[in-house]
Amino acid sequence: LITDIRLRRVLDSRGNATVEADVHTESGGFGRGKAPSGASTGEYEAIELPAQEAIANAREDAFPRLIGEVHAGNQRDVDAALHAADGTDDFSGIGANSAVAISMAAAKAGADVLGAPLFQHLGGTFRGNEFPTPLGNIVGGGEHAADATNIQEFLSAPVGAPSVEEAVFANAAVHQEVHDMLADRGIPAGKGDEGAWAPSVSDDEAFELMDEAVSAVEDDVGFEIRFGLDVAGAELYDESEGGYVYDDGVKSTDEQIDYIAEKAQEYDLVYVEDPLDENDYEGHAELTERVGDRTLVCGDDLFVTNVSRLGEGIEQDAGNSILIKPNQIGTLSDAVDAIELATENGYASVVSHRSGETEDTTIAHLAVATGAQFIKTGAVGGERTAKLNELIRIEDNAA
Ligand code: PGA
Ligand code: ZN
Repeated sequence: LITDIRLRRVLDSRGNATVEADVHTESGGFGRGKAPSGASTGEYEAIELPAQEAIANAREDAFPRLIGEVHAGNQRDVDAALHAADGTDDFSGIGANSAVAISMAAAKAGADVLGAPLFQHLGGTFRGNEFPTPLGNIVGGGEHAADATNIQEFLSAPVGAPSVEEAVFANAAVHQEVHDMLADRGIPAGKGDEGAWAPSVSDDEAFELMDEAVSAVEDDVGFEIRFGLDVAGAELYDESEGGYVYDDGVKSTDEQIDYIAEKAQEYDLVYVEDPLDENDYEGHAELTERVGDRTLVCGDDLFVTNVSRLGEGIEQDAGNSILIKPNQIGTLSDAVDAIELATENGYASVVSHRSGETEDTTIAHLAVATGAQFIKTGAVGGERTAKLNELIRIEDNAA
């Protein structure tokens, strides 16, 4: 039984306030969870409240339904209590940041009581060579860096890596390779919010950098590395401008579909996230039909980890993959429901960090537990390596 919960304001990787939750149980179990935070957030995401407000509301409304009432190990009960306490359909009552922090803390307390690793408690037996492949953010811009690329993320995908460990190091090597290529060309580059290089180059130059860097590392490591994109199309789309606004002009929806399809073919992209606006199911369906054989077309802002938005997408064939961000929907149970619906319908799941992150490692366990095909959690930087190193530990302990 949950006997105590503590909520506090702590820092995230951007220096913003976020919610940390500690959950204690009667039998001495303990778990701690921290909410991440997005910058290029989807219109249909669960609502993040200012940290202090989320904490105050959760103390008042959620504590009475949790403390002395539910078992930390019973995740469905914990998450149902959070929904009941909130009373809205978007967590605008207690805040999705309080909800997800408590949901993750309870899961860890439940695992602690059992003496089991979190991924096992979340439903995963060891999955051997089915570990998720890490997508490493190498170059980018969009909402995550000023004066950089229009496309938000260029992601390295070591699909042929024989282990998570080798995949993680391959992504770091691609990141380093791009650094060296930029230095050779005299192009200065700081880093964006997720640790990707944020040089002031055109999107076309970024494609070339990725292509070269990935090939160089591929030759070195001897296994296949492809790459992909998070276009974050909703951030580029401006209805009043008539389409997708790039530095060099505006693309209509048809032009955007052609552009992404051509890049997918030219570079054999393994992955394209949010290629179009978050309201454009039809455009996503058209692009999926054109490139879906070789390329995952993944909905982030499009689906927001929400089973009803995913259900609509499945009906319209508006993709073949879903991004899973627990804080987009507010609880681990809701995130697992989205993964299960995806799996039943042949959609690949990609468990993901946010641009504002913490040392929390829950998503590494969630990805392993659910057999997600990919995990997107950066390539470098402490709040990113927290998850990557946890994946290495899970793999090592299972060997
Ligand atoms: P966000 O970006 O966390 O800023 O929303 C990540 C993404 O778009 O995938
Ligand atoms: Zn995204």
